[in-house]
Amino acid sequence: MSWTLYRHYKGNHYLRLGVAAHSEDLSPQVVYRCLYDNPEARTWVRPQPMFEGVIEDGRQRFTPVGRLRLVQPEDMRTVLAFGYDAWKHDKTFDQYCADKDQDPNHLRGTRYLLEDAAGQPVSALNVLRFRESLIGLASVATSPEQRGKGYASRLLRAVMELHRFAQLDTRFLLFSEVKPAIYERHGFRVLPPEHQRFSKSLAMATGEAPLSAAEADFLKTYF
Ligand SMILES: CC(C)(COP(=O)(O)OP(=O)(O)OC[C@H]1O[C@@H](n2cnc3c(N)ncnc32)[C@H](O)[C@@H]1OP(=O)(O)O)[C@@H](O)C(=O)NCCC(=O)NCCS
Repeated sequence: MSWTLYRHYKGNHYLRLGVAAHSEDLSPQVVYRCLYDNPEARTWVRPQPMFEGVIEDGRQRFTPVGRLRLVQPEDMRTVLAFGYDAWKHDKTFDQYCADKDQDPNHLRGTRYLLEDAAGQPVSALNVLRFRESLIGLASVATSPEQRGKGYASRLLRAVMELHRFAQLDTRFLLFSEVKPAIYERHGFRVLPPEHQRFSKSLAMATGEAPLSAAEADFLKTYF
């Protein structure tokens, strides 16, 4: 499974979800999802020739900027290398990879990978599906030489919008080991002190409502 990310000529980013047939004339329509907060709508359709075409000045209307896909077993060492500098704790890379086989979150999660426009893997994260509308995001990491280019932000948002498209009211939880601004821009808030457990990371969640007892339990048990 893979989904292409595009930049619209006006600058915003979108995730292409697929192509649908128009019910009246069977013409192909691209279905795509905003990777930013658009109050009008998040999921849009546009005739495929128009989506893939050029605007008056000859520029592409939508330019592909990357591809989101599921991590395959053969990608695992590449993906684990992205966060090795931050999480190695004196382990060799081989030991660090081997230890993942004992890590329950690594084993139960679904990792997603972002490739750049040239097809190079640049950023990855792990999705922990706690229950239908509650998802934990973990192990967000970008290849050290590709950091600071917006890849982690784009990957995070693409994964969130993909899951929201399937289940609108999905709530996301995570622990941030970096300044929370990167996550706050995508609707996460730092949770109140009763949910904080670690000195080096901040528990955060999307949504306005306080965490329910069940949600708080997932935060405690799985991270
Ligand atoms: C944190 C990390 C994933 C960001 O990846 P990235 O692709 O560089 O992120 P982006 O380019 O989308 O940057 C988003 C913002 O995060 C900030 N940021 C990046 N790395 C950061 C760090 N180590 N500490 C604090 N903020 C950081 C950037 O300054 C940027 O903010 P800006 O747009 O206001 O300048 C990357 O630095 C990384 O892989 N670190 C090692 C693993 C790790 O610590 N992961 C975080 C787990 S919560």
